[in-house]
Amino acid sequence: MSLLIKNGEVVTADEQYTADIFCENETITRIERNIDKVKADEVIDAKGKYVFPGFIDPHVHIYLPFMGTFAKDTHETASRAALVGGTTTFIEMICPARNEKPMEAFELWLGKAEGKSACDFTFHMGVTRYDAEAERDFKEIVKRGLSSFKIFLAYKGAFGITDEELYAALTLAKKLGVIVTAHCENADLVLELQKKLLSEGKTGPEFHYWSRPPVVEAEGVHHLMTFAEMTGAHVYTVHTSCEEALAEAIRGKQRGVNVWVETLIQYLLLDRTSAEPNFEGAKNVMSPPLRDKKNQEVMWKALADGSVSTLATDHAPFDFEQKKMGKDDFTKIPNGIPSLEDRVNLYFTHGVKGNKIDVQRFVDTASTQAAKLFGLFPRKGAIKVGSDADLVVYDPNYRGKISAKTHQMNLDYNSFEGFEIQGRPHVVTVRGKVAARDGKFVGEAGRGQFLKREPSHF
Ligand code: URP
Ligand code: ZN
Ligand code: ZN
Repeated sequence: MSLLIKNGEVVTADEQYTADIFCENETITRIERNIDKVKADEVIDAKGKYVFPGFIDPHVHIYLPFMGTFAKDTHETASRAALVGGTTTFIEMICPARNEKPMEAFELWLGKAEGKSACDFTFHMGVTRYDAEAERDFKEIVKRGLSSFKIFLAYKGAFGITDEELYAALTLAKKLGVIVTAHCENADLVLELQKKLLSEGKTGPEFHYWSRPPVVEAEGVHHLMTFAEMTGAHVYTVHTSCEEALAEAIRGKQRGVNVWVETLIQYLLLDRTSAEPNFEGAKNVMSPPLRDKKNQEVMWKALADGSVSTLATDHAPFDFEQKKMGKDDFTKIPNGIPSLEDRVNLYFTHGVKGNKIDVQRFVDTASTQAAKLFGLFPRKGAIKVGSDADLVVYDPNYRGKISAKTHQMNLDYNSFEGFEIQGRPHVVTVRGKVAARDGKFVGEAGRGQFLKREPSHF
């Protein structure tokens, strides 16, 4: 299978130029101003369009047993949604319960994705317990191609770990060269605040915010910084939502902690009023919660100046029926705001078209940084000879609106319903084969490959 993309405006994290791109056997083999006289199975006219490296979502949940239920997408529906929206690789969190064996969880999650996903994928290994047996499994899992861990400082009694386990996990990570991604919220503070609010009869979704205010997240980040400083482990704060939490990460970085920060498209465009004023707001309950609007400018600036490295989704789809589990008690609302499909278009619209971020930094934060941090670069996140031919021919002149009626995600609502988008992928390729075209999935379920990664964070 060969593919020729003609006359596109190629944009990577560090370059922008007009060129033709020729791909054979799943990789990019030539990038030149004019490539003629080649026989290509498929030729795509990219004049007037951008050509971006395939976007990478470094934080998704697809198979997710959580809060007494399961997230709604399968790897088929999620990968379809990802591809239509320009995401060609995702990194899913393996989240075992504390009594499950890490190796069995790794095999379970891998088995769910292999043969089903249409896009390439890999995993962060959840460290949801730590003992000698688990440690043996973690070492083996790293040998089998995962080079990042995930820990939760929140969700006490579910995925959350103790400080003793945190210290052991970071110590092992440092030894193995594995980066540790972390959900940072102080679990005990959350529990105490939840109890207090419920005892006052404050049961609606709007009180979720007050059970996890910015200071609770900032304390979590501060805690992680202390442990990272003590162990030398490289860490990454997932779904960083607010100025206070970001400030703790920046302070950590300034004193030499190896820390990188992720934020989400939800925090850039939605604020805490989206979880009000009635139970419909449950659709927009996630953790950390949506914040006061003033944080949005802070996070946009941080993406532009490099304080924040990546823009992800933390895709975790629960339908409205599932959200109703928390009808009388906000602590029982399954947490998550799905956005795997819409991240790139919303980010392009509000970031690039909205003059908040330049187009190269857009590519960097939505693709290249994740590839670099998580051991995928330059196979992914790049347009180079030898890179996988994961390409997004992007039409900046498209105009449309987001709606649950037309989205691919397996969900009965969209938190961005009615949001306008200015731009969308015209063609999306996965290793040289067209997988999405103009909002339609045309790929193959099961073609996605498990991406093995080498540790690099020593
Ligand atoms: O609300 C969220 N973020 N749901 C998914 C689980 C997690 O904490 O990442
Ligand atoms: Zn989380
Ligand atoms: Zn998550």
